[in-house]
Amino acid sequence: MGRHEATPSLLLLAISFLCTIKWPQIQTAAVTNQQLLKGFTATPEPSTSSFQPLLTDPTGNYSMGFLRVNRTQLALSVLHVPSAEPLWQADMARLARWSESTHFFFNGSLVISDPRTKVFWSTGTNGDRILLLNTSNLQIQKLDKSPTVLWQSFHFPTDTLVENQNFTVNMSLVSSNGLYSMRLGEDFIGLYENFKENPEQIYWKHGALEAKAEIVKGQGPIYIRLDPDGFLGMYQIGSTPVDVEAFYSFQHPIAGFRRLRLEPDGNLKGYYWTGSNWVLDYQAIKDQCELPGSCGSYGLCRPGSGCSCIDNSTEYNSEKECLPPETGNLCSDIEGENKFRVLRREGIELPYKELMGYETTSSLEQCERSCENNCSCWGAVYNNASGFCYRVDYPIRTLLGVGDDTKVGYFKVREGPEKKAESGFGLVIGLLGATVLAFSGVVGFGVYKVWTRKGAKGVSEEAGGVNPGPYKTLGAASFRSIEMT
Ligand SMILES: *[C@@H]1O[C@H](CO)[C@@H](O)[C@H](O)[C@H]1NC(C)=O
Ligand SMILES: *[C@@H]1O[C@H](CO)[C@@H](O)[C@H](O)[C@H]1NC(C)=O
Ligand SMILES: *[C@@H]1O[C@H](CO)[C@@H](O)[C@H](O)[C@H]1NC(C)=O
Ligand SMILES: *[C@@H]1O[C@H](CO)[C@@H](O)[C@H](O)[C@H]1NC(C)=O
Ligand SMILES: *[C@@H]1O[C@H](CO)[C@@H](O)[C@H](O)[C@H]1NC(C)=O
Ligand SMILES: *[C@@H]1O[C@H](CO)[C@@H](O)[C@H](O)[C@H]1NC(C)=O
Ligand SMILES: *[C@@H]1O[C@H](CO)[C@@H](O)[C@H](O)[C@H]1NC(C)=O
Ligand SMILES: *[C@@H]1O[C@H](CO)[C@@H](O)[C@H](O)[C@H]1NC(C)=O
Ligand SMILES: *[C@@H]1O[C@H](CO)[C@@H](O)[C@H](O)[C@H]1NC(C)=O
Repeated sequence: MGRHEATPSLLLLAISFLCTIKWPQIQTAAVTNQQLLKGFTATPEPSTSSFQPLLTDPTGNYSMGFLRVNRTQLALSVLHVPSAEPLWQADMARLARWSESTHFFFNGSLVISDPRTKVFWSTGTNGDRILLLNTSNLQIQKLDKSPTVLWQSFHFPTDTLVENQNFTVNMSLVSSNGLYSMRLGEDFIGLYENFKENPEQIYWKHGALEAKAEIVKGQGPIYIRLDPDGFLGMYQIGSTPVDVEAFYSFQHPIAGFRRLRLEPDGNLKGYYWTGSNWVLDYQAIKDQCELPGSCGSYGLCRPGSGCSCIDNSTEYNSEKECLPPETGNLCSDIEGENKFRVLRREGIELPYKELMGYETTSSLEQCERSCENNCSCWGAVYNNASGFCYRVDYPIRTLLGVGDDTKVGYFKVREGPEKKAESGFGLVIGLLGATVLAFSGVVGFGVYKVWTRKGAKGVSEEAGGVNPGPYKTLGAASFRSIEMT
């Protein structure tokens, strides 16, 4: 009898074993080191298509190694092995080439170098070994009587925070396309849109509720930490949080590993790993229209009905922005470059106007004039009922469409001859970029498919997430709903 029952369960065991060993190639690399000592060197293998592990943590859940990006580039990364999701990347100003001339070595300092360009990146330490902890934290340690930590990746997050990682006022998260960042203020978490030649603009601000503890001025900065119990805690003194930002799974204990990522569309999202896929567990901005660039440059977002263009003679197309994105201002010294035409539209509002400054003017004309004559102003939105005049001192992104026609927008569109020539060139570059992106997206998705037993719909959209670009944030993709529990 006992025999009879044992057979199917053995079979099951064998099947589940087979399933396990079909997992990523990085999992099979049992030879991978658990620590790297002085003198260790490595170069990227030409045959590796996606990831070359160099170091794993004791559980095998995390691996540090070379991530192949855009086929030709190399990023030093820490991955979550079962999902191949990058959790950390060395902040190399430019990525190294995936070439045999690129060297990784540990001489006390973790160094990536290339004979042509010399040192790409270095930790500037003098340690004895490199370890990857079971938290995904990469550490360089000095081995005296007891090991001391000289450097750790937890202090230099990329776009992701993992559970129990402290995020302090001295750190920032930057989305993989470089467009958005997250930082802490005195008593809040802020998400900012970055512009090349303009000051950044905050578009999401989460202040402390101070329900259980209060922030005491002068008692040091706040910090935040992703708690395994399903919340983002904000702390100042001691272990009582001054704020608890609850995830959907809050108070419904789950066993899976958690992460929080600043996405390429500017949203901040929390996920947990079920063992086979990532489940969306939190998003800071719930309404797509509240994102800074949900419909691209000069786009118009209407809650519930999607994107159109501010200029209603232009058809909205998710592949291409309504108008070429701007990065600078209209203050150039070059003659003709500052020429602009004007777009006006009724029934328009700024998506996060409560975070923007305004002045009160007595008329729409006065509001427009204050922008018209200032070359660092790209537009103004006037509320005829309140007299509030919001000036937009950064390139125009997505506006919010509202039913109220007393809210009127005035926007500048560059018309300078020099820039026109350049925007044609920009379009070619843009198209090239989009092609490469599409290609790497396909490759990324393929890799993800291979590395996951069940493709997680929606979340897999972001799996090519190592190299997404602004185009990816546009249109249908952003509006696709994500699988939730
Ligand atoms: C390690 O190598 C780098 C690059 O060659 C060099 O700048 C650095 O001084 C070396 N560090 C130590 C501790 O030898
Ligand atoms: C991780 O390591 C710490 C100490 O190094 C240990 O206490 C803990 O149980 C480990 N966790 C897992 C999941 O292996
Ligand atoms: C995070 O900060 C807390 C409180 O200061 C500290 O106890 C903990 O060790 C820190 N965690 C890490 C991973 O550094
Ligand atoms: C942040 O950096 C400043 C110097 O830039 C330093 O004085 C301060 O101690 C740092 N704060 C934390 C929490 O690390
Ligand atoms: C880590 O791997 C072990 C098996 O080695 C597994 O039981 C555990 O759930 C994994 N933890 C995470 C956080 O992925
Ligand atoms: C856009 O269309 C509306 C009617 O749908 C019209 O009133 C308005 O004048 C148009 N605006 C522009 C800039 O063409
Ligand atoms: C133009 O706008 C910028 C940003 O608001 C402001 O700092 C500057 O003083 C303005 N210049 C003039 C001439 O009003
Ligand atoms: C704007 O407000 C003024 C006075 O408050 C009023 O006379 C005018 O009709 C309003 N215009 C619109 C378009 O509502
Ligand atoms: C991949 O290549 C495209 C096009 O050259 C570029 O825009 C993008 O930034 C690259 N990705 C990374 C991560 O370097």
